[in-house]
Amino acid sequence: MGQACLTNDERARLLKTAGDAAKQAHALYSNFRVGAAVLTGKGGFFSGCNIENASYCLTVCAERVAIYSAVAQEGSNMRIRAIAVVSETGGDCPPCGACRQVISEFGPDAIVIFQGHEGIEELHISELLPKGFTRRGIT
Ligand code: THU
Repeated sequence: MGQACLTNDERARLLKTAGDAAKQAHALYSNFRVGAAVLTGKGGFFSGCNIENASYCLTVCAERVAIYSAVAQEGSNMRIRAIAVVSETGGDCPPCGACRQVISEFGPDAIVIFQGHEGIEELHISELLPKGFTRRGIT
């Protein structure tokens, strides 16, 4: 895994886009508003917010909304170079396990930027999801 570096401008734009997206959250039940932004291999920026539902388990995380939007625009070959995740309140917001699996599918070499315990953290997806499931080896 050759961890591709981000420029300061790319990092700043990802965090700003994610912060702006959090304002669009539909988080009536948790009141925890999350925003995410994806930078694709082609240089596109896509954002997402968490979207909750009265039937709670239908909730979709901000990361998956951003990633699926990127796939809808760029197609199945869309690759995540980097993804940023922030919460509006400034609380810890590392991607959940399900989102790590989805990040890994579209970004096996993705950089993940998120609000951690002591500020912004930046990790390779394989550090957040070692041995994620893939279809390799399945015929
Ligand atoms: N949430 C996200 O959007 N991303 C995550 O990685 C963790 C959790 C949302 C889902 C739900 O709307 C709220 O945060 C509280 O769990």
